[in-house]
Amino acid sequence: MLRPEDMLKVIFGYTAKIANERKLDKILLLMADMGREMIQADRCTLWLLDRDSNELRTQVAHEVGEMRIPATSGLVGHTILTGQSIIIEDAYQDSRFNQEVDKATGYRTKSILVIPIRDSEGEIMGAFQAINKTTPEGVFEDRDIEFLTLAAYYSGKSLEAAMLANEIEETQREIIFVMGEVGETRSKETGYHVKRVAEYSKILALGIGMSEDEAELIKTASPMHDIGKVAIPDSILLKPGKLTEEEFEHMKQHTSIGYNLLRNSKRRILKAAAVIAIQHHEKWNGRGYPCGLRGEEIHLYGRITAIADVFDALGSDRVYKKAWDLERILTLFREERGEHFDPQLVDVFFDNLDKFLEIKEKFQDSGEPVEL
Ligand SMILES: [Fe+2]
Ligand SMILES: [Fe+2]
Repeated sequence: MLRPEDMLKVIFGYTAKIANERKLDKILLLMADMGREMIQADRCTLWLLDRDSNELRTQVAHEVGEMRIPATSGLVGHTILTGQSIIIEDAYQDSRFNQEVDKATGYRTKSILVIPIRDSEGEIMGAFQAINKTTPEGVFEDRDIEFLTLAAYYSGKSLEAAMLANEIEETQREIIFVMGEVGETRSKETGYHVKRVAEYSKILALGIGMSEDEAELIKTASPMHDIGKVAIPDSILLKPGKLTEEEFEHMKQHTSIGYNLLRNSKRRILKAAAVIAIQHHEKWNGRGYPCGLRGEEIHLYGRITAIADVFDALGSDRVYKKAWDLERILTLFREERGEHFDPQLVDVFFDNLDKFLEIKEKFQDSGEPVEL
């Protein structure tokens, strides 16, 4: 048993860290670590109940990512269902224990403790599961339940806030994606165009040295590059063949229209999308539109999306043209290096060509995505 002052140290140390953390996966890991130290368990996992899919999910480790199991499975499922805590001295003597995980991992579970976690309304939102007490006696006691409950109580608010933030961000992502598709569907660029542009943009962002976080931002925002097309008439959007000069002038406005739709938002994602909407047709040599910006005057997000969008447009059938073959596209990118496109980004493009082709292959316009 930890001495009271050590226990306080653990609690204060972790709750301060947890209160400052906004990412749900990090909070889950911190809470699990806190629980493990407080009750001296070898392992501790925090499971969250996803009521939509009726699954329990957890963050296994920073690199491993998320794990999901059916909400009714095993001892954790029992606690979720009944709201009761469980203490078991020897898991192998208990029929509710699933030995398969041990068999797969080579780990030997002995003592187990599971407690439910409730939200501020008293609804069960998940469970703490601790495995193998590390003290000489090797069994959990009722006091451990109290301590873990305390741990859950102290970090519950941060956990709920992070879950809500997560939910909001997910919703934003979905809406943004659908909005992007609206722009594209109007011009019959059906299927996976926006999906592929998003993936290509992320590859370029990472390749040019952006953080994972920022690359993810541009991946989310880039599908909206043509959102301004919602305001362009069908007679122009769907015209097979070349546009008249007047029509083309009208068409160009989809950039500033998109910008005006998005620019007033305070949201980081929508701000990025606004920049992309107005700059994705600018060219490195200054001959693009609508502003004729050149070089690094064009935001990196705009330069990235330009490459992603053109690569995809050339490789797909459009109302005004057939898809180009790969060699022809690559030749164009070589010629337009430092002309239409940022030369450094073109280098990143060629360095990662295999990844681009993988995505092109995976998200083909005909039918469902291909599992690779
Ligand atoms: Fe566009
Ligand atoms: Fe596009």
